[in-house]
Amino acid sequence: MSNEFMNYNMNSQGNTSQSNYPIQEVIQDHIEFNKETSQNWDLYTGHRNKVMQSILAYSPKQATTICILGAGNCNDIDLHLLVKRFQEVHLIDIDTKAILDGICRQNIKDSTQIIIHSEEFSGIYNKLAEWKQFNPSEKAIGNLLNELNVDNEPAISHYQKFDVVVSVCVQSQITHSINSTLLSSSGKYQLSLAARNSHLNLLLNLTDHGLVLFINDLVDLKTEFDVSDASDFDLDEVMMSFIKTQNFFTGNNPFAIREMFEQHKIIAPKVKSVDFISSWLWQLTSKKVYMVYGFAIIKI
Ligand SMILES: C[S@@+](CC[C@H](N)C(=O)[O-])C[C@H]1O[C@@H](n2cnc3c(N)ncnc32)[C@H](O)[C@@H]1O
Repeated sequence: MSNEFMNYNMNSQGNTSQSNYPIQEVIQDHIEFNKETSQNWDLYTGHRNKVMQSILAYSPKQATTICILGAGNCNDIDLHLLVKRFQEVHLIDIDTKAILDGICRQNIKDSTQIIIHSEEFSGIYNKLAEWKQFNPSEKAIGNLLNELNVDNEPAISHYQKFDVVVSVCVQSQITHSINSTLLSSSGKYQLSLAARNSHLNLLLNLTDHGLVLFINDLVDLKTEFDVSDASDFDLDEVMMSFIKTQNFFTGNNPFAIREMFEQHKIIAPKVKSVDFISSWLWQLTSKKVYMVYGFAIIKI
């Protein structure tokens, strides 16, 4: 870490460092991806505007603290606008360097309102690191599924509470880590859903009566059609066609997620209201265009 950041507001309260296995092998993919996309501020303009509009429109008037999970390069959030709107802006990611560099690129490194948390918030990367060394038994996968059960406290839920909690396109990254570790397809699927549900539960646990914005990528559109024509399409219709044909990133069907917020026996009682935020496009790289949607949830 460069010296200029030695006095930065940094927190690390999680258990990432307790691994007996090199968690770096799981994290490295995310670090590489962040490096690859670090200069994409301009490319992300449309997506960032959508994320920022959603934050500003849905945040309760009295909200003073915001926490962004998966802040990474900070290319999808405008930190100047955030520090203008909120007294404290908490940024959480496993890739601390990406956050620090992102803050520098936005020219806001002297702000005392920004607090960085260096954390692994899925609670499963230590286990995945172990499984990269030794293939897991069915029993080991079953144990992790039990740990992820939403009856249990999710990782980092010992944090302070925030008025606004935002998850920015992290879910598919956690699924990616599961997929790139496990060979058995049934284990992958079950774990991806369990990790998703645990993530939704974590978001709700990080606020008391506040707003949770769950922003999620559905599918890579560019593999399907020419996105230069995208303005001619009704994106929600396009989204429906992907859902009907079961063509989307594992666990990211917005209907299944809405059902979690509205009907799940542990999660639904924490939810006061759920709004769907219609889909938009995220030009991620020159080769990838993701379809993204959101949910704005008010916690009871
Ligand atoms: C697709 S990026 C989000 C885009 C990012 N905000 C930007 O502007 O480039 C997802 C971020 O989630 C982080 N991440 C993935 N899994 C994580 C985990 N389990 N705990 C903490 N951060 C995680 C990655 O390091 C990455 O920075």
